[in-house]
Order: sequence, then C-alpha cells, then structure tokens
Amino acid sequence: MKIALGADHGAFELKEAVKKHLEEKGIEYKDFGCFSKESVDYPVYASMAANAVADHECDFGVICCTTGLGVSMAANKVNGVRAAVCTNEMLAEMTRRHNNANVICMGQKVVSEELALKMVDIFLSTEFEGGRHSRRVDLLTDIENGKKLEP
Ligand code: RB5
Repeated sequence: MKIALGADHGAFELKEAVKKHLEEKGIEYKDFGCFSKESVDYPVYASMAANAVADHECDFGVICCTTGLGVSMAANKVNGVRAAVCTNEMLAEMTRRHNNANVICMGQKVVSEELALKMVDIFLSTEFEGGRHSRRVDLLTDIENGKKLEP
C-alpha cells in the first residue's frame, strides 16, 4: 500500500506527524509537500497528491490543511478522487465502507494529532462494502462525467 501525502502550511505539522506514523507502521508513502510552514496555496498540494491517487501511483491519499475543507474541494475536482473531510472515527470508517473514499482530508485546527492518526489507521484498514453502495459510487462517477442524474 502506498499513500499520497499533501498539505499546505496550515497543516504542515499534521502531515509530518502522519508521515512519522506511516513510517513506524512500515507503510510506504510519497510526500507531495509542502515542506515548511511558509505560506503556500492549498490547491497546488492537494491536487498533486490527489492526482497520484487518480493515476494509481498511490492507493490512498491523506491531505490536510487548516480546516480540511479547502484541500477536500481541490481533491474532489480531480476525476476519480472521492475525498472526505473526517472529524471523527465514525466518519473515517463510514466513508470507506459506503463511499469508497480514496482520500481522507483533515484539518490541523479541527482535530487533535491523536485523533488524526486514529482516523488514518481506520481509513486505511476499512474495506468498501460494495453491494448497493457500488451503484451509488458509480453515480458519483456519472456526475463527474457530466451526466445529469434523475430519480
Ligand atoms: C490557509 O490559511 C487556510 O485557508 C487553509 O489551510 C485551508 O484551511 C483552506 O481551506
């Protein structure tokens, strides 16, 4: 398993903590930056990490900013990416089980480091349930491809 990591300056420290955590667990990662607390633009780093997931260079992404919101918006604009902002353990689990999310987004000012690392562990170890959820996830791809959905 290989993880794409990305963050802006607002979550540089959280990304570093996630990186250390993955290292301790022996999980491979690619760090797309940023590489300091100097102010940068979150869409750049979010899209680089998200593209690595969409291109199957990485299996999952962990992308962070101050709130988790901006990076999730950027990541979700990349075709093939299903990014979810998670703020608790249940969300980290459910977005894998039901949405087959391939990117977890977190905010450094929103969650503690301890919770963030727990959510990463849950996200990376929870399987997509498939079944009726596959149809719904396929509909997300239809939206991405410009289809106008109707009931
Ligand atoms: C940067 O100041 C901040 O706007 C960014 O980290 C993020 O929270 C945006 O959604």
